[in-house]
Amino acid sequence: MNPLKNDTLIRALLRQPTPYTPVWVMRQAGRYLPEYNATRARAGSFLALCKTPAFAVEVTLQPLARFALDAAIVFSDILTIPDAMGLGLAFAEGEGPYFERPLRDERDIRKLRAPVPGEDLRYVLDTVRQARQALDGKVPLIGFCGSPYTLACYMIEGRGSTDFPAVKAMLRDRPELLHHILDVNCRAAIAYLNGQIEAGAQVIMIFDTWGGMLGAAEYRDFSLAYAKRVVQGLKREHQGARVPSIVFAKGAGHSLESIAASGCDAVGVDWTVDLRAARGRVGARVALQGNLDPDVLLAGPDAVRAGVAAVLAAFGSGSGHVFNLGHGISRHTPVDSMSALVDAVHEASRAYH
Ligand code: CP3
Repeated sequence: MNPLKNDTLIRALLRQPTPYTPVWVMRQAGRYLPEYNATRARAGSFLALCKTPAFAVEVTLQPLARFALDAAIVFSDILTIPDAMGLGLAFAEGEGPYFERPLRDERDIRKLRAPVPGEDLRYVLDTVRQARQALDGKVPLIGFCGSPYTLACYMIEGRGSTDFPAVKAMLRDRPELLHHILDVNCRAAIAYLNGQIEAGAQVIMIFDTWGGMLGAAEYRDFSLAYAKRVVQGLKREHQGARVPSIVFAKGAGHSLESIAASGCDAVGVDWTVDLRAARGRVGARVALQGNLDPDVLLAGPDAVRAGVAAVLAAFGSGSGHVFNLGHGISRHTPVDSMSALVDAVHEASRAYH
């Protein structure tokens, strides 16, 4: 298939030399873009947008038409897996995702099955295939899924939460049930991600949004252990090309060394982590992705340029850095802040290579 015209992301993830630091942004296709809102309105809902490949490909490409980004990320959501498991994903306007049938009783938990990607999640694989074709090698396409633990948080709690009380209770009262859910999620994630690789995803990212809220020992046993199994179950190469993997665990700066030892090629770090210190701890083993505070983009272009300069200086000279935000971009971000970000990374990073 089409050779890559811009492979700086892949090279940086593999810690090979690049002329500048590649940049992409978590949730780069989203509500801060007026054209995203227009396509979402045409699709009818967020879920219809995800489930209709032609619309999903359209929004995947939208940020690339505006900004000189070094990657595309397939437009989808981490909650497609539990939706395909039959939990009934829905979105309440302004309140985010919830499940109509959260996993609470043991019988439902024992009945849980990993979906078959080519059947139950075929719409995502079709989106990956069509997005890859539409990109025509312009930049690499990132495929993704949620970590087994983060998926379990939504599946058990039934919705987003600040503290996930039902999950925390199960973790201590019925750890074997939680481990069972995590095992199923792990097998589901491996099959799903390998399906995305075969469909054309050139980089894989695992989002662990909630593992970092656990204590270090619980994080290791309930979150990282399963994310690691996912990483180790991934195809490392497809059609002769390495498919690098990124593990992003928000709030898990305490465990950078063990994340780096999971077998992934890169570790995503949130904005609370000092990138200089992170590089000292794990930079010899993995690339680092991050970590500008997304709120900096709510300020004007001068503040954005200063924020970019600080992140680049914190990482310092040499390869192995992928510029990103420390978490997803806010829906309130002015489009001009994104332009300023991407241009500033490309211009200011050359001095470091
Ligand atoms: O990065 C990208 O551009 C790819 C698309 C992407 C989405 N969600 C689209 C989306 C990705 C990679 C995700 C990951 C995701 N989804 C995570 C992990 C990353 C993180 O942010 O921590 C999580 C926890 C979810 C679950 C989820 N989906 C939540 C909590 C919400 C509501 C968020 C909100 O801001 O309202 C969603 C919906 C969602 N997923 C939107 C988008 C663009 C907004 C939906 C809309 O258009 O109304």
